[in-house]
Amino acid sequence: MYRYDEYDQQIVDERVIQYRDQVRRRLAGELTEDEFLPLRLQNGLYMQVHGYMLRIAVPYGLISSKQMRMFAHIARKYDRGYGHFTTRQNIQFNWLRLEDTPAILADLASVEMHAIQTSGNCIRNITSDEYAGVAQDEVVDPRPYAEILRQWSTFHPEFAFLPRKFKIAISGGKEDRAAITAHDIGLSVTKNAQGEIGFRVLVGGGLGRTPIIGSEICDFVPWQHIVTYVESILRIYNQYGRRDNKYKARIKILVKALGIDEFRRQVEEDWAASKDGPGTLTAEELDRVAGFFTDPDYESLTDHNSDLNEFKADNRSFSNWMQRNVKPHRIPGYAIVVLSLKKLGVAPGDATAEQMDKIADLAERYSFGELRITHKQNLVLADVKQADLINLWKEASASALATPNIGLLTDMISCPGAEFCTLANARSIPLAELIAERFDNLDFQHDIGDIELNISGCMNACGQNHIGNIGITGVEKKNHDEWYQVSIGGAKGNNSSIGKIIGPSFTFNQVPEAIDRLLQVYLRERVEAERFIDTVRRIGHEPFKEHVYATSFGTDQEEAADKKSVVPAQYSVPFYSPRF
Ligand code: HEM
Ligand code: SF4
Repeated sequence: MYRYDEYDQQIVDERVIQYRDQVRRRLAGELTEDEFLPLRLQNGLYMQVHGYMLRIAVPYGLISSKQMRMFAHIARKYDRGYGHFTTRQNIQFNWLRLEDTPAILADLASVEMHAIQTSGNCIRNITSDEYAGVAQDEVVDPRPYAEILRQWSTFHPEFAFLPRKFKIAISGGKEDRAAITAHDIGLSVTKNAQGEIGFRVLVGGGLGRTPIIGSEICDFVPWQHIVTYVESILRIYNQYGRRDNKYKARIKILVKALGIDEFRRQVEEDWAASKDGPGTLTAEELDRVAGFFTDPDYESLTDHNSDLNEFKADNRSFSNWMQRNVKPHRIPGYAIVVLSLKKLGVAPGDATAEQMDKIADLAERYSFGELRITHKQNLVLADVKQADLINLWKEASASALATPNIGLLTDMISCPGAEFCTLANARSIPLAELIAERFDNLDFQHDIGDIELNISGCMNACGQNHIGNIGITGVEKKNHDEWYQVSIGGAKGNNSSIGKIIGPSFTFNQVPEAIDRLLQVYLRERVEAERFIDTVRRIGHEPFKEHVYATSFGTDQEEAADKKSVVPAQYSVPFYSPRF
């Protein structure tokens, strides 16, 4: 994992000193809130419903156990004992006092972390594949490139005041796990027919009020030129992006207005001037950075199936966990383990300080002291010996981290919504809980299989509702009641798509019933092991729409719950006991 050098450390240490003085001046009344606003935003500090919210950058989602322990410390000492992991592989704390924030940033700096560029119209934290370096389908490890781009983008003087925020994601696997199509720039590291490394570059993707899947601007930029190429994209955007209207200021609007061919022409014209300039990467620099991402001391092992199979045969919870939460690793005898942060009754992505300490402990004992944050708001232990899986599962279960639901209906993405966010039209987390309660049957969820349900409290789409197989969005209505639009057919990954709204919106209590009805159509229509998204793509939206609106909805929660549920009777007794 990357370690700060003296320059990195000096930058974050000096930033803490400057920020401490800014807070002092604000508290002493020397700065007005308006004057203080840009200063705090440059340090990731937002003002939200409960006061100050701090977003901490986790570069490409990779952290050490020591850093995780620091999150636990911050949660315990300065917050209400928990933190919230986000879809952009960051963490947020929601209940902070302004006067504590300089000490928090100093604590973070002591473990090589900061909150710089997690807010504002700049290049935000660069995200990547949560299985980078260990995935079986990996073509090229994206982490060295993600780190090079992190260094390049941090305090880049030309791009500190872009027309709007700018998000870059990098993936290096055959399957895109970093949602690169939904980013301002999406990079896929790949190899050409000659085995040379380069990047497929997408541009102009994004969600929010105008959701757009990114367009390919170049199918192969040789790795030496990736920094200058990305820089040219940003330069054209910085020059021509719409600064007059913040709703039209993202790069996607510029790319759409110019058309991808004209946008490419302008980028390549700019690039011609810088292509071989000082921004060109050298093999020496790449090797230096790649040196931080070498393999840990893997033992020479063979796959360890017999004990696991025996234990699986006797234990359905373990067997389900193996099926959903354990992923194949490129090294024989090792596995990737996803710790679920989606337990019933807990907001998606939340972890308590005790859980964070436990997770750090598990990382140290089972996975070389490293962790990753996933785009689905879960955590990953990337290098677990298969021989340790049973013990790890027992320990993770005891800390409520082993719900076997990765990729299933209750592995939902949810934004913070009205309880935390001042921009919200409606609550997200309580809705996620209501839905999780209704479908709280793991046998049923395993039967439904892979499905992505994403919830956002408003059209800004932080919960990535547009690329959820089922997307739910809080919408504005004149009477200020909470209403939600439901869309289906969205997807991320290689075959990504934007979902389509199925019809008139629903009240808070009606949403679980609407999902129930969507699932009824899926169960009726699916062919063999077809996933929900494949059924939607095959039969189209109409049958879903017809069934959902065919009969009236209950008006209150009891009435809605009384309606016949899709959960078949044989599943009425959950087999799964969360306690080991
Ligand atoms: C509570 C404080 C938050 C505020 C005020 C906020 C604000 C916004 C706004 C205004 C947008 C739309 C940007 C645009 O299209 O120009 C947006 C997009 C987005 N946010 Fe948030 N957000 C918050 C929290 C979060 C959290 C917790 C997550 C992750 C769980 C998140 C992830 C995203 C994502 C994925 C997008 C859409 C991607 C894109 O930028 O196109 N945000 N956010
Ligand atoms: S989607 Fe809307 S409600 Fe949810 S966090 Fe983003 S801005 Fe807030």
